Amino acid sequence: MVDRRQFMISTGVALAGAALGAPRPAASSDGAAAKEFPHGFRWGAATAGHQVEGNDTASDTWLLEHVKPTAFAEAAGDACNSFELWREDLDLVRSLGLNSYRFSVEWSRIEPEPGEYSTAMLDHYLRMVEGCRERGLMPVLTFNHFTCPRWFGARGGWLAADAADRFARYCERVARHLGAHLGYATTLNEPNIGRLLGVLDLPAALREADHAMLAAAARACGSERFVSANSVDAQLAEQLLRPMIAAHRAGRAAIKNVRPDLPVGVSLAIFDDQAVGENSLRDRMRAQLYGAWLEAVKGDDFIGVQNYERAQWDSKGRLPPPANARRGHMGSEVYAPSLAGAVRYAHAATGIPVMVTEHGVGTPDDATRAWLIPAALRELRKAMGEGVPVLGYLHWSLLDNFEWVFGYGPKFGLCAVDRTTFKRTPKPSARVLSAIARRNAV
Ligand code: BGC
Repeated sequence: MVDRRQFMISTGVALAGAALGAPRPAASSDGAAAKEFPHGFRWGAATAGHQVEGNDTASDTWLLEHVKPTAFAEAAGDACNSFELWREDLDLVRSLGLNSYRFSVEWSRIEPEPGEYSTAMLDHYLRMVEGCRERGLMPVLTFNHFTCPRWFGARGGWLAADAADRFARYCERVARHLGAHLGYATTLNEPNIGRLLGVLDLPAALREADHAMLAAAARACGSERFVSANSVDAQLAEQLLRPMIAAHRAGRAAIKNVRPDLPVGVSLAIFDDQAVGENSLRDRMRAQLYGAWLEAVKGDDFIGVQNYERAQWDSKGRLPPPANARRGHMGSEVYAPSLAGAVRYAHAATGIPVMVTEHGVGTPDDATRAWLIPAALRELRKAMGEGVPVLGYLHWSLLDNFEWVFGYGPKFGLCAVDRTTFKRTPKPSARVLSAIARRNAV
């Protein structure tokens, strides 16, 4: 039986979907119905190529992990061996009752040398996209999740004069090969991350190590400057802003040129920024962390929101988390309403629908994740009830994987991965998300 509200909600999804808008559930005072998500809501889990595939030896990050000195605690190596085991990953997503899978294609496999495209690698990703469809999963494809080909980094990365053109050419190739089967696409992953890293309490030693590593990579390639987007250098973050906006625009145009009806966006890292006291820096910080990007995405079909924490700003700076806060990776606060806060802001600032392309917590304590998921989703559902259009929720991450400079220490996965056998084992939190997705209600 479909009741009236359910009908209105699902009709809303269908209509909004057709117009590339989002489901807009009616606001409700009815407790039970308010917990439902719109029919067609995307429930999923996310991964990224370098973090799960293993052995992307032509990537900039592979090089950075192996130069001396390196800022990486360890090298990605085989990662979760998802390059071989992607069918198991998709089976896992389906077995959890999710209906979507976000993953990325590795540019360095597809274009290992400038202008040399690999049909075999494009076919590999085509099989993955088809594999999603065969299992009833909506593929949400990230065209670039931080890692680039080594040759791209050696040419100055996103700072090279032709970076946006090169990226657009790559996007076009990918879109031509597998675009027909995609559900959603994002060009870049967190191109604003450098600015956020600038305000995170990262160890000073890490910033120095990052610098030395990039210099070593430049020497290894015999180039003047090696540039990688996933760096903690604040000055570089400034320099990357305009070129990466240009790359997003060029990439989006290239993808749209092939598939005009495919919803395309970009995923941004967004805190739930909160003002504390008088003369709070909150708005100034928002302008600095996201301002230019939130302007740039206004013509996009949706905005990908990636949220892991809140940031409370008083007149002097960011406040430390409350003493009794739950903590995750590196002592960061785990604050359940932060996702809804970031989503509300992203929509208010852009006027476009939101897809939660990442949300989660790095913790060895899966009980924290199992607590966080429903608590955050209840808040998200509330925001939707207020009229914020949200297309889906894609949890980061499907697997415990390679957490960049921190290596395999931090655990973000719904599923554990044995580092020797690569066996995947769902954790209790996976069942929590699974139950919510199956009921389409929290
Ligand atoms: C990134 C992921 C990362 C996650 C957890 C996001 O910034 O897109 O690659 O693993 O956060 O730190």
